[in-house]
Amino acid sequence: MAYGGYTYIDRKYRPAKDDFIVLVWASGTVPIEKIAEAIAAESSIGTWTKLKTMNKRVLDRLKARVFRIEKSSSKSGLLWIAYPLEHFDVKNIIQFQASVLGNIFGMKELTGLRILDITFPEKYRKRFSGPYGGIKGIRKYVGTVKSGRPHLGTIVKPKVGLTPKEFADVAYEAYMGGCDFVKDDENLSDQKFCPFRARFEEMMEVTDRIRSETGRKVLYAPNISDKYERMAERLDFIHFHGAPIAMVDVFVVGYSALQEIFEETHGKRVFTHAHRAGYAVESRGEFAITFMVHEKFYRMLGADQLHIGTGVGKMEGSPLYIKRLRDIIALQKVDEKLYLGSLAQEWNNKPVMPVASGGVGPEVVDALLALHGKDVVVQAGGGIHGHPDGTRAGAKAMRQAIDAALKGIPAPKYAKTHKELANALKIWKYRPPNTVKKLLAQERKRAKTLGKRALSKGIKEIEKYW
Ligand code: 3PG
Repeated sequence: MAYGGYTYIDRKYRPAKDDFIVLVWASGTVPIEKIAEAIAAESSIGTWTKLKTMNKRVLDRLKARVFRIEKSSSKSGLLWIAYPLEHFDVKNIIQFQASVLGNIFGMKELTGLRILDITFPEKYRKRFSGPYGGIKGIRKYVGTVKSGRPHLGTIVKPKVGLTPKEFADVAYEAYMGGCDFVKDDENLSDQKFCPFRARFEEMMEVTDRIRSETGRKVLYAPNISDKYERMAERLDFIHFHGAPIAMVDVFVVGYSALQEIFEETHGKRVFTHAHRAGYAVESRGEFAITFMVHEKFYRMLGADQLHIGTGVGKMEGSPLYIKRLRDIIALQKVDEKLYLGSLAQEWNNKPVMPVASGGVGPEVVDALLALHGKDVVVQAGGGIHGHPDGTRAGAKAMRQAIDAALKGIPAPKYAKTHKELANALKIWKYRPPNTVKKLLAQERKRAKTLGKRALSKGIKEIEKYW
Protein backbone atom coordinates (compact mmCIF):
# COMPACT_ATOMS: atom_id res chain seq x y z
CA MET A 1 0.00 0.00 0.00
CA ALA A 2 1.20 3.49 -0.78
CA TYR A 3 2.18 5.77 2.12
CA GLY A 4 -0.95 6.95 3.82
CA GLY A 5 -3.17 5.30 1.22
CA TYR A 6 -2.62 7.79 -1.58
CA THR A 7 -0.26 7.46 -4.48
CA TYR A 8 2.37 10.04 -5.21
CA ILE A 9 4.28 8.25 -7.97
CA ASP A 10 3.14 9.41 -11.38
CA ARG A 11 5.65 8.48 -14.05
CA LYS A 12 3.50 10.02 -16.75
CA TYR A 13 3.49 13.42 -15.07
CA ARG A 14 5.28 16.18 -16.99
CA PRO A 15 6.29 19.00 -14.65
CA ALA A 16 4.51 22.30 -15.26
CA LYS A 17 6.47 25.51 -15.89
CA ASP A 18 5.76 26.71 -12.36
CA ASP A 19 6.68 23.46 -10.59
CA PHE A 20 9.70 23.08 -8.35
CA ILE A 21 11.83 20.07 -9.30
CA VAL A 22 13.72 18.44 -6.47
CA LEU A 23 16.41 15.85 -7.18
CA VAL A 24 16.87 13.47 -4.28
CA TRP A 25 19.12 10.53 -3.52
CA ALA A 26 17.42 8.10 -1.14
CA SER A 27 18.15 4.69 0.31
CA GLY A 28 16.35 2.70 2.98
CA THR A 29 15.13 -0.57 4.42
CA VAL A 30 12.05 -0.77 2.18
CA PRO A 31 11.64 -0.73 -1.63
CA ILE A 32 12.59 2.55 -3.28
CA GLU A 33 9.01 3.00 -4.54
CA LYS A 34 7.79 3.03 -0.92
CA ILE A 35 10.53 5.43 0.02
CA ALA A 36 9.53 7.69 -2.87
CA GLU A 37 5.87 7.67 -1.82
CA ALA A 38 6.81 8.42 1.77
CA ILE A 39 9.11 11.32 0.90
CA ALA A 40 6.61 12.92 -1.46
CA ALA A 41 3.75 12.50 1.01
CA GLU A 42 5.56 13.67 4.14
CA SER A 43 7.05 16.68 2.38
CA SER A 44 3.76 17.84 0.90
CA ILE A 45 0.25 16.91 2.06
CA GLY A 46 0.30 13.39 3.49
CA THR A 47 1.10 11.32 6.54
CA TRP A 48 1.41 7.66 7.54
CA THR A 49 -2.28 6.84 7.25
CA LYS A 50 -5.33 7.62 5.19
CA LEU A 51 -7.22 10.71 6.32
CA LYS A 52 -10.91 11.37 6.67
CA THR A 53 -10.06 15.02 6.10
CA MET A 54 -8.36 14.58 2.71
CA ASN A 55 -10.21 15.81 -0.34
CA LYS A 56 -9.75 15.73 -4.10
CA ARG A 57 -8.84 19.41 -4.35
CA VAL A 58 -5.94 19.05 -1.94
CA LEU A 59 -4.77 15.83 -3.57
CA ASP A 60 -4.95 17.10 -7.13
CA ARG A 61 -3.57 20.58 -6.57
CA LEU A 62 -1.05 20.39 -3.77
CA LYS A 63 0.56 16.98 -3.58
CA ALA A 64 4.15 16.34 -4.63
CA ARG A 65 4.59 13.95 -7.56
CA VAL A 66 7.50 11.59 -8.06
CA PHE A 67 7.71 11.57 -11.83
CA ARG A 68 11.01 9.74 -12.30
CA ILE A 69 12.85 7.03 -10.40
CA GLU A 70 16.29 5.74 -11.39
CA LYS A 71 17.03 2.74 -9.19
CA SER A 72 20.51 1.80 -8.09
CA SER A 73 19.16 -1.18 -6.15
CA SER A 74 15.70 -2.29 -5.08
CA LYS A 75 16.03 -0.01 -2.03
CA SER A 76 17.93 2.99 -3.33
CA GLY A 77 17.95 5.42 -6.19
CA LEU A 78 17.54 8.89 -7.58
CA LEU A 79 14.13 10.49 -7.39
CA TRP A 80 12.75 13.47 -9.25
CA ILE A 81 9.90 15.11 -7.38
CA ALA A 82 7.72 17.97 -8.62
CA TYR A 83 5.99 20.35 -6.20
CA PRO A 84 3.34 22.80 -7.37
CA LEU A 85 3.97 26.53 -6.81
CA GLU A 86 0.64 26.86 -5.01
CA HIS A 87 1.96 24.60 -2.23
CA PHE A 88 4.30 27.34 -1.08
CA ASP A 89 3.72 30.49 0.92
CA VAL A 90 4.69 33.72 -0.80
CA LYS A 91 8.28 34.80 -0.04
CA ASN A 92 8.46 32.39 2.90
CA ILE A 93 11.65 30.40 2.61
CA ILE A 94 11.13 28.92 6.06
CA GLN A 95 7.85 27.34 4.95
CA PHE A 96 9.56 25.99 1.83
CA GLN A 97 12.29 24.42 3.91
CA ALA A 98 9.90 23.02 6.51
CA SER A 99 8.13 21.24 3.64
CA VAL A 100 10.79 20.07 1.23
CA LEU A 101 13.75 19.90 3.63
CA GLY A 102 11.82 19.02 6.76
CA ASN A 103 10.29 15.92 8.40
CA ILE A 104 11.58 13.60 5.69
CA PHE A 105 15.10 13.64 7.17
CA GLY A 106 13.83 11.89 10.28
CA MET A 107 11.89 9.04 8.68
CA LYS A 108 13.08 5.81 10.24
CA GLU A 109 13.03 3.63 7.11
CA LEU A 110 15.66 5.85 5.50
CA THR A 111 19.35 5.00 5.66
CA GLY A 112 20.32 7.91 3.46
CA LEU A 113 18.69 11.04 2.09
CA ARG A 114 20.42 13.75 0.15
CA ILE A 115 18.71 16.70 -1.39
CA LEU A 116 21.00 17.12 -4.36
CA ASP A 117 19.48 20.08 -6.14
CA ILE A 118 16.30 22.07 -6.63
CA THR A 119 15.15 23.92 -9.73
CA PHE A 120 13.24 27.01 -8.66
CA PRO A 121 10.55 28.24 -11.08
CA GLU A 122 10.57 31.82 -12.30
CA LYS A 123 7.39 32.83 -10.48
CA TYR A 124 8.96 31.89 -7.14
CA ARG A 125 12.36 33.43 -7.94
CA LYS A 126 10.69 36.70 -8.84
CA ARG A 127 9.33 37.02 -5.34
CA PHE A 128 12.86 37.75 -4.14
CA SER A 129 14.97 40.70 -5.16
CA GLY A 130 18.28 38.89 -5.73
CA PRO A 131 21.62 40.68 -5.28
CA TYR A 132 21.60 44.44 -4.89
CA GLY A 133 24.68 44.98 -7.07
CA GLY A 134 26.16 41.55 -7.76
CA ILE A 135 29.25 41.21 -9.95
CA LYS A 136 28.64 44.42 -11.91
CA GLY A 137 27.79 46.52 -8.88
CA ILE A 138 30.88 45.43 -6.96
CA ARG A 139 33.09 45.91 -10.01
CA LYS A 140 31.66 49.37 -10.58
CA TYR A 141 32.52 50.35 -7.02
CA VAL A 142 36.08 49.02 -7.21
CA GLY A 143 36.58 50.34 -10.76
CA THR A 144 37.29 47.06 -12.53
CA VAL A 145 34.39 46.94 -14.99
CA LYS A 146 36.72 47.72 -17.91
CA SER A 147 39.66 45.54 -16.96
CA GLY A 148 37.44 42.69 -15.77
CA ARG A 149 40.32 41.39 -13.67
CA PRO A 150 39.79 39.17 -10.65
CA HIS A 151 39.54 41.03 -7.35
CA LEU A 152 42.05 40.32 -4.63
CA GLY A 153 40.69 39.92 -1.14
CA THR A 154 42.08 39.06 2.24
CA ILE A 155 40.87 38.00 5.65
CA VAL A 156 42.92 39.63 8.37
CA LYS A 157 44.77 36.95 10.33
CA PRO A 158 45.04 35.84 13.09
CA LYS A 159 41.31 35.16 12.79
CA VAL A 160 40.67 36.81 16.15
CA GLY A 161 42.85 38.52 18.72
CA LEU A 162 44.21 41.68 17.12
CA THR A 163 43.18 45.04 18.56
CA PRO A 164 41.31 47.48 16.27
CA LYS A 165 44.53 49.40 15.61
CA GLU A 166 46.55 46.25 14.91
CA PHE A 167 43.78 44.99 12.64
CA ALA A 168 43.67 48.27 10.70
CA ASP A 169 47.46 48.36 10.35
CA VAL A 170 47.44 44.89 8.80
CA ALA A 171 44.59 45.92 6.48
CA TYR A 172 46.49 49.05 5.40
CA GLU A 173 49.47 46.92 4.41
CA ALA A 174 47.19 44.53 2.51
CA TYR A 175 45.55 47.35 0.55
CA MET A 176 48.93 48.93 -0.19
CA GLY A 177 50.13 45.60 -1.54
CA GLY A 178 47.18 45.50 -3.94
CA CYS A 179 44.14 44.06 -2.14
CA ASP A 180 40.78 45.40 -3.27
CA PHE A 181 38.93 43.91 -0.39
CA VAL A 182 39.50 43.17 3.30
CA LYS A 183 37.09 41.30 5.50
CA ASP A 184 36.66 40.17 9.08
CA ASP A 185 36.96 36.47 9.63
CA GLU A 186 33.81 34.47 10.32
CA ASN A 187 34.44 34.36 14.09
CA LEU A 188 35.41 37.99 14.58
CA SER A 189 32.51 40.06 15.78
CA ASP A 190 32.37 42.38 18.80
CA GLN A 191 34.79 40.74 21.23
CA LYS A 192 36.35 42.79 24.00
CA PHE A 193 39.82 42.87 22.46
CA CYS A 194 38.40 44.18 19.15
CA PRO A 195 35.04 45.94 19.54
CA PHE A 196 33.01 46.19 16.34
CA ARG A 197 32.63 49.97 16.32
CA ALA A 198 36.23 50.72 17.20
CA ARG A 199 37.48 48.35 14.50
CA PHE A 200 35.07 49.80 11.95
CA GLU A 201 36.15 53.37 12.71
CA GLU A 202 39.84 52.45 12.36
CA MET A 203 39.04 50.72 9.09
CA MET A 204 37.12 53.70 7.69
CA GLU A 205 40.21 55.81 8.30
CA VAL A 206 42.31 53.24 6.48
CA THR A 207 40.05 53.01 3.44
CA ASP A 208 39.91 56.83 3.26
CA ARG A 209 43.68 56.98 3.52
CA ILE A 210 44.09 54.44 0.72
CA ARG A 211 41.77 56.56 -1.41
CA SER A 212 43.72 59.76 -0.79
CA GLU A 213 47.16 58.12 -1.13
CA THR A 214 46.47 55.93 -4.17
CA GLY A 215 43.17 57.09 -5.68
CA ARG A 216 41.82 53.54 -5.33
CA LYS A 217 38.40 52.68 -3.91
CA VAL A 218 38.73 49.62 -1.72
CA LEU A 219 36.21 47.65 0.29
CA TYR A 220 36.10 46.58 3.91
CA ALA A 221 33.38 44.11 4.96
CA PRO A 222 32.72 44.21 8.72
CA ASN A 223 31.10 41.08 10.10
CA ILE A 224 27.70 42.16 11.40
CA SER A 225 26.50 38.59 12.16
CA ASP A 226 24.51 38.26 15.38
CA LYS A 227 20.85 38.07 16.35
CA TYR A 228 18.71 40.18 14.05
CA GLU A 229 18.41 43.33 16.20
CA ARG A 230 22.16 43.58 16.68
CA MET A 231 22.80 43.04 12.98
CA ALA A 232 20.30 45.78 12.17
CA GLU A 233 21.94 48.09 14.73
CA ARG A 234 25.40 47.47 13.27
CA LEU A 235 24.10 47.93 9.76
CA ASP A 236 22.55 51.28 10.74
CA PHE A 237 25.85 52.33 12.25
CA ILE A 238 28.04 51.42 9.28
CA HIS A 239 25.52 52.78 6.82
CA PHE A 240 25.44 56.10 8.68
CA HIS A 241 29.21 56.26 8.24
CA GLY A 242 28.96 55.50 4.53
CA ALA A 243 30.14 51.87 4.45
CA PRO A 244 29.57 50.20 1.10
CA ILE A 245 29.48 46.55 2.23
CA ALA A 246 28.64 44.32 5.20
CA MET A 247 29.54 40.73 5.86
CA VAL A 248 27.13 38.09 7.13
CA ASP A 249 27.80 34.49 8.20
CA VAL A 250 24.82 33.41 6.14
CA PHE A 251 24.53 29.76 7.15
CA VAL A 252 24.83 30.10 10.91
CA VAL A 253 22.70 33.25 11.04
CA GLY A 254 19.81 31.25 9.60
CA TYR A 255 17.29 32.07 6.92
CA SER A 256 14.76 34.02 8.94
CA ALA A 257 17.18 36.68 10.15
CA LEU A 258 19.11 36.53 6.90
CA GLN A 259 16.09 37.37 4.80
CA GLU A 260 15.32 40.31 7.03
CA ILE A 261 18.84 41.70 7.15
CA PHE A 262 19.25 41.36 3.39
CA GLU A 263 16.05 43.35 2.92
CA GLU A 264 17.64 46.00 5.14
CA THR A 265 20.95 46.03 3.24
CA HIS A 266 19.07 46.36 -0.04
CA GLY A 267 17.03 49.23 1.28
CA LYS A 268 20.19 50.98 2.40
CA ARG A 269 22.06 50.14 -0.83
CA VAL A 270 24.78 48.28 1.00
CA PHE A 271 26.45 45.29 -0.67
CA THR A 272 26.62 41.99 1.22
CA HIS A 273 29.51 39.59 1.51
CA ALA A 274 28.25 36.10 2.40
CA HIS A 275 30.53 33.80 4.38
CA ARG A 276 29.22 30.23 4.42
CA ALA A 277 30.91 28.94 7.60
CA GLY A 278 29.04 25.87 8.86
CA TYR A 279 27.43 24.82 5.57
CA ALA A 280 29.36 21.52 5.48
CA VAL A 281 27.57 20.26 8.57
CA GLU A 282 24.69 19.57 6.18
CA SER A 283 26.47 18.47 3.07
CA ARG A 284 29.00 15.79 3.91
CA GLY A 285 27.10 12.79 5.24
CA GLU A 286 24.43 10.29 4.21
CA PHE A 287 21.73 12.77 5.23
CA ALA A 288 22.56 15.97 3.45
CA ILE A 289 21.54 19.11 1.66
CA THR A 290 24.14 20.14 -0.90
CA PHE A 291 25.54 23.64 -1.03
CA MET A 292 23.99 23.96 -4.51
CA VAL A 293 20.62 24.24 -2.79
CA HIS A 294 21.80 26.80 -0.23
CA GLU A 295 23.60 28.98 -2.73
CA LYS A 296 20.38 29.29 -4.74
CA PHE A 297 18.60 30.60 -1.66
CA TYR A 298 21.46 33.02 -1.04
CA ARG A 299 21.28 34.30 -4.61
CA MET A 300 17.51 34.76 -4.40
CA LEU A 301 17.76 36.52 -1.06
CA GLY A 302 20.46 38.82 -2.33
CA ALA A 303 24.09 38.01 -1.47
CA ASP A 304 26.39 40.12 -3.64
CA GLN A 305 29.51 38.04 -2.94
CA LEU A 306 29.47 34.43 -1.78
CA HIS A 307 32.14 32.01 -0.56
CA ILE A 308 32.00 28.87 -2.69
CA GLY A 309 35.31 27.14 -1.97
CA THR A 310 38.21 26.92 -4.38
CA GLY A 311 38.63 23.42 -5.84
CA VAL A 312 42.37 23.80 -5.28
CA GLY A 313 42.71 24.94 -1.66
CA LYS A 314 42.10 23.65 1.86
CA MET A 315 38.33 23.10 1.85
CA GLU A 316 36.39 20.14 0.45
CA GLY A 317 35.03 20.11 -3.10
CA SER A 318 36.55 18.82 -6.33
CA PRO A 319 37.45 21.31 -9.06
CA LEU A 320 34.45 20.27 -11.17
CA TYR A 321 32.03 20.57 -8.28
CA ILE A 322 33.35 23.97 -7.23
CA LYS A 323 33.14 25.14 -10.85
CA ARG A 324 29.50 24.10 -10.77
CA LEU A 325 28.93 26.09 -7.55
CA ARG A 326 30.50 29.04 -9.31
CA ASP A 327 28.39 28.71 -12.46
CA ILE A 328 25.15 28.45 -10.50
CA ILE A 329 25.66 31.86 -8.92
CA ALA A 330 27.64 33.66 -11.63
CA LEU A 331 25.71 32.67 -14.79
CA GLN A 332 22.17 33.39 -15.90
CA LYS A 333 21.51 29.79 -16.97
CA VAL A 334 23.05 26.40 -16.27
CA ASP A 335 22.17 23.12 -17.95
CA GLU A 336 21.65 19.86 -16.11
CA LYS A 337 24.79 17.98 -14.99
CA LEU A 338 23.54 14.78 -13.42
CA TYR A 339 27.01 13.41 -12.69
CA LEU A 340 27.32 16.30 -10.22
CA GLY A 341 23.77 15.75 -9.01
CA SER A 342 22.80 19.09 -10.47
CA LEU A 343 19.70 20.25 -12.33
CA ALA A 344 19.18 22.99 -14.91
CA GLN A 345 18.43 26.46 -13.55
CA GLU A 346 17.65 29.84 -15.08
CA TRP A 347 17.83 33.19 -13.31
CA ASN A 348 16.26 36.58 -13.72
CA ASN A 349 18.28 38.32 -11.00
CA LYS A 350 21.84 39.64 -10.94
CA PRO A 351 24.85 37.29 -10.92
CA VAL A 352 26.68 36.96 -7.61
CA MET A 353 30.45 37.54 -7.36
CA PRO A 354 32.02 34.18 -6.40
CA VAL A 355 34.60 34.26 -3.63
CA ALA A 356 37.29 31.58 -3.86
CA SER A 357 38.63 31.31 -0.35
CA GLY A 358 40.28 28.76 1.91
CA GLY A 359 43.89 27.70 1.61
CA VAL A 360 44.72 30.03 -1.28
CA GLY A 361 48.23 31.40 -1.85
CA PRO A 362 50.17 32.62 -4.89
CA GLU A 363 51.21 29.07 -5.67
CA VAL A 364 47.66 28.04 -6.65
CA VAL A 365 46.50 31.20 -8.42
CA ASP A 366 47.20 29.82 -11.93
CA ALA A 367 45.10 26.75 -11.20
CA LEU A 368 42.42 28.79 -9.42
CA LEU A 369 41.91 31.17 -12.33
CA ALA A 370 41.95 28.31 -14.86
CA LEU A 371 38.96 26.97 -12.94
CA HIS A 372 37.06 30.11 -11.91
CA GLY A 373 37.81 32.54 -14.73
CA LYS A 374 38.09 36.27 -14.07
CA ASP A 375 34.83 37.05 -12.28
CA VAL A 376 36.03 35.99 -8.87
CA VAL A 377 37.41 37.36 -5.63
CA VAL A 378 40.69 35.52 -5.13
CA GLN A 379 40.82 35.58 -1.37
CA ALA A 380 43.81 34.66 0.76
CA GLY A 381 44.38 34.89 4.49
CA GLY A 382 47.38 32.72 5.33
CA GLY A 383 48.55 33.07 1.72
CA ILE A 384 49.07 36.81 2.29
CA HIS A 385 49.83 37.24 6.00
CA GLY A 386 52.09 34.18 5.97
CA HIS A 387 54.40 35.62 3.33
CA PRO A 388 58.01 35.58 4.59
CA ASP A 389 58.28 39.35 4.06
CA GLY A 390 54.94 40.27 5.61
CA THR A 391 51.48 41.34 4.57
CA ARG A 392 52.32 44.01 1.97
CA ALA A 393 54.71 41.66 0.18
CA GLY A 394 52.12 38.89 0.49
CA ALA A 395 49.45 40.98 -1.24
CA LYS A 396 51.96 42.02 -3.91
CA ALA A 397 52.87 38.38 -4.53
CA MET A 398 49.18 37.55 -4.97
CA ARG A 399 48.68 40.42 -7.42
CA GLN A 400 51.76 39.33 -9.32
CA ALA A 401 50.45 35.77 -9.47
CA ILE A 402 47.12 37.09 -10.80
CA ASP A 403 48.88 39.27 -13.39
CA ALA A 404 51.01 36.32 -14.47
CA ALA A 405 47.97 34.08 -14.90
CA LEU A 406 46.15 36.75 -16.91
CA LYS A 407 49.18 37.09 -19.17
CA GLY A 408 49.41 33.32 -19.53
CA ILE A 409 52.85 33.22 -17.91
CA PRO A 410 53.47 30.44 -15.35
CA ALA A 411 54.06 31.93 -11.90
CA PRO A 412 57.63 30.53 -11.52
CA LYS A 413 58.66 32.25 -14.76
CA TYR A 414 57.01 35.55 -13.74
CA ALA A 415 58.76 35.24 -10.38
CA LYS A 416 62.13 35.68 -12.07
CA THR A 417 61.39 39.40 -12.35
CA HIS A 418 59.04 39.77 -9.35
CA LYS A 419 60.73 39.28 -6.02
CA GLU A 420 57.63 39.07 -3.79
CA LEU A 421 56.24 36.23 -5.88
CA ALA A 422 59.66 34.59 -5.95
CA ASN A 423 59.93 34.68 -2.16
CA ALA A 424 56.44 33.25 -1.78
CA LEU A 425 57.22 30.38 -4.12
CA LYS A 426 60.27 29.56 -2.02
CA ILE A 427 58.02 28.49 0.84
CA TRP A 428 54.87 27.39 -1.01
CA LYS A 429 55.38 24.93 -3.85
CA TYR A 430 53.91 26.06 -7.18
CA ARG A 431 50.89 24.05 -8.31
CA PRO A 432 50.51 24.31 -12.10
CA PRO A 433 47.04 24.50 -13.67
CA ASN A 434 47.50 21.29 -15.71
CA THR A 435 45.28 19.06 -13.57
CA VAL A 436 42.44 21.57 -13.57
CA LYS A 437 42.69 22.14 -17.32
CA LYS A 438 42.75 18.40 -17.97
CA LEU A 439 39.69 17.84 -15.79
CA LEU A 440 37.73 20.58 -17.54
CA ALA A 441 38.66 19.20 -20.98
CA GLN A 442 37.66 15.68 -19.93
CA GLU A 443 34.38 16.96 -18.59
CA ARG A 444 33.57 18.71 -21.88
CA LYS A 445 34.36 15.53 -23.83
CA ARG A 446 32.62 13.01 -21.58
CA ALA A 447 29.64 14.90 -20.17
CA LYS A 448 26.99 12.67 -21.79
CA THR A 449 28.67 9.41 -20.73
CA LEU A 450 29.18 10.70 -17.20
CA GLY A 451 25.50 11.66 -17.00
CA LYS A 452 24.40 8.17 -18.08
CA ARG A 453 26.67 6.48 -15.55
CA ALA A 454 25.30 8.63 -12.75
CA LEU A 455 21.79 7.51 -13.70
CA SER A 456 22.61 3.83 -13.46
CA LYS A 457 25.04 3.90 -10.51
CA GLY A 458 23.57 6.64 -8.36
CA ILE A 459 25.25 8.46 -5.51
CA LYS A 460 28.51 6.49 -5.49
CA GLU A 461 29.17 7.68 -9.02
CA ILE A 462 28.05 11.26 -8.30
CA GLU A 463 30.24 11.45 -5.18
CA LYS A 464 33.30 10.74 -7.32
CA TYR A 465 32.87 14.15 -8.91
CA TRP A 466 32.24 16.05 -5.72
C1 3PG B 1 37.97 32.19 4.97
O1 3PG B 1 37.37 33.13 5.49
O2 3PG B 1 37.60 31.68 3.90
C2 3PG B 1 39.17 31.62 5.67
O3 3PG B 1 39.40 32.30 6.84
C3 3PG B 1 40.34 31.55 4.75
O4 3PG B 1 41.56 31.58 5.38
P1 3PG B 1 42.89 31.13 4.65
O5 3PG B 1 43.02 31.91 3.38
O6 3PG B 1 44.00 31.41 5.62
O7 3PG B 1 42.76 29.67 4.37
